[in-house]
Amino acid sequence: FPLTSSAAAGGDYPEPIAAIVAAEHPPPHRQGLVVFFTGLSGSGKSTLARRLRDVILERGDRTVTLLDGDVVRQMLSAGLGFSKADREANVTRIGFVAAEVARHGGLAICAPIAPYADTRARVRQMVAEAGGAFVLVHVATPLAECERRDRKGLYAKARAGLITGFTGISDPYEEPTDADLRLDTSVMSVEEAVGRIVDLLTARGWLR
Ligand code: PPS
Repeated sequence: FPLTSSAAAGGDYPEPIAAIVAAEHPPPHRQGLVVFFTGLSGSGKSTLARRLRDVILERGDRTVTLLDGDVVRQMLSAGLGFSKADREANVTRIGFVAAEVARHGGLAICAPIAPYADTRARVRQMVAEAGGAFVLVHVATPLAECERRDRKGLYAKARAGLITGFTGISDPYEEPTDADLRLDTSVMSVEEAVGRIVDLLTARGWLR
């Protein structure tokens, strides 16, 4: 029988059963949720993730934790590179934090490349074990378009051999077969893409 934390410490009575049931089975808009973007460098993950955060915050019903690739690599994953092991560690750390946010009823938005299907599946499982829902959004902008944009000049460097192991050029990207949404930002606007995500989250009751 679950006790309140003070009851567990021996100083209180158990909560009423109804309160426990409500805490363990929150309505969908109070359930922990992880929206996990995956896609090539330059595919539009960060842009969509930031815009989604803003739209959710504007609606005023949920708070948002954004775990964006660049910030995570400066803080949580400082010192990691782009080997398979380092990418797995990076994405697993993101998943761990997101799962903890979800455990307490929060909404986390993650936006790493996350090139490996196994690691993505592991994150999905960690979130489920924390009682959260998980939505995988594949930002499926074609490589040719990401390379044409080349906002950071990294594709040119990768083609010139100045960067080795660059995702899509000289390192793998395993296309998801389990995505809830597949969005190609070369054929739709940011607003349209974010609208598709919001529609999905609303249809499943995670947003009101
Ligand atoms: S991963 O694979 O999920 O751990 O990658 P992530 O943490 O999202 O970092 C991707 C950003 O790092 C820059 N960068 C590289 N990307 C891919 N391959 C190599 N070798 C690499 N080296 C640096 C790149 O700017 C990515 O930024 P985004 O925002 O995805 O464009």
